[in-house]
Amino acid sequence: MRLNDEEQAMLDGRDGPAVQRAMDLLVRYGTALGAERLVDTNNVCGTVGATMPFLRDYATKHGGLDAVFSEFNLDSPDVVAVPKAKVFSSHLQQGLDPEHAERQNVGSDIVKLYRAGEAYTAKLGIQPLNTCAPYQVGNVPVKGEHCAWMESSAVIYINAVLGARTNAEGRESAGAAMLTGKIPYWGLHLEENRGGTHLIELDIDVKSVADWGLLGYYVGEIVQDRIPVINGLRHVPNLPKLKHFGAAAASSGGVEMYHVVGQTPEAPTLDAAMRGRKPVETIRYGEAERRLAYERVNTTAKHTEVDFVMLGCPHYSIEQIWEACQLLEGQRVSPDTELWIFTPRATKQLADQAGYTKIIEDAGGVLMTDTCSSVGRVMPKGTRVAAVDSAKQAHYLPAIMGVEAWFGTTADCIQAAVTGRWSGAFA
Ligand code: F3S
Repeated sequence: MRLNDEEQAMLDGRDGPAVQRAMDLLVRYGTALGAERLVDTNNVCGTVGATMPFLRDYATKHGGLDAVFSEFNLDSPDVVAVPKAKVFSSHLQQGLDPEHAERQNVGSDIVKLYRAGEAYTAKLGIQPLNTCAPYQVGNVPVKGEHCAWMESSAVIYINAVLGARTNAEGRESAGAAMLTGKIPYWGLHLEENRGGTHLIELDIDVKSVADWGLLGYYVGEIVQDRIPVINGLRHVPNLPKLKHFGAAAASSGGVEMYHVVGQTPEAPTLDAAMRGRKPVETIRYGEAERRLAYERVNTTAKHTEVDFVMLGCPHYSIEQIWEACQLLEGQRVSPDTELWIFTPRATKQLADQAGYTKIIEDAGGVLMTDTCSSVGRVMPKGTRVAAVDSAKQAHYLPAIMGVEAWFGTTADCIQAAVTGRWSGAFA
């Protein structure tokens, strides 16, 4: 890999041992990928600290959070003092919501460690956005901007909807990028790799957020890690719809980029989306395919008594909280069910001000931040059957937490929260 003088100086230790380890990691990583050089980035989204149980143990045994950063962000053989992030960096979702620890069955010792991690993040100059949807709360990269982001649902959103450029980074490469402002120049950073491969012709109108989730789930399973181009749009999809499409496609497959003809920034025309190439496959998406996707997402649920309704995967926008409140206001969550809605911290502040948090709490639900049930492994005690409006969460929750999960619209889920029973159906 070719390094410029600045990069070579970092590798030679000019900026201290942590930056040296970071550059060494990026060179090893880039070489393994076949990258010829690095590219500058001023936008990194990653994870530091120790909110997961095994990381908490590691921090305790090895002397703190610099030890965790050294091992898990820098792959360093020894513990190094970690300096402030060199470039604009944000923290992704964490392992718990410290304001609702008791409800999440988390002890005060763990909350204390969590707060230490927050202080550590602030000390490193990393923005504590604590969400899988940083683009909803102030980190909004622009078209063509080279980024180094983790989190599959966020990666696909900024590539496809914003036209920014990132591969799906890991904790190590994102940590190294924070300290150096560099990331290997390969994959989706390169123009020639951003064209569509598969053409998806819509034979039906894709209307609701749930419909976009189903479309994403169906398409992801087929294209896996390649790039679908959606054609035949009849309505302009809003942020939640594109967010759910991408999150679902990244779950059933490994999709990191897509185009919607006439909608997303690199797809003014079908030809532009395909970069002039012919699709390797054309897939038609009609009512039969929609039904198939619905059945696949709903494979785990058998019992109609619902213990837990989880909304906010990816973290809800203020618009989605508003919509949930419209459905919920004036009703009560069933005594047999819990309703947890997840959102970024900054959005919760807005929801507090707008009165939405009170509407949710008056109904017996709770608005949580920072984490989610799959990532934080947090659910009400004894949950056997969950209901979600996210194909991504329906995909992961049964596998991670061993529960049944119903998938449906937000209205289906609110109805389940109020009645304690699932009555959603394919419609
Ligand atoms: Fe976010 Fe958790 Fe879903 S981190 S994308 S809410 S699985």
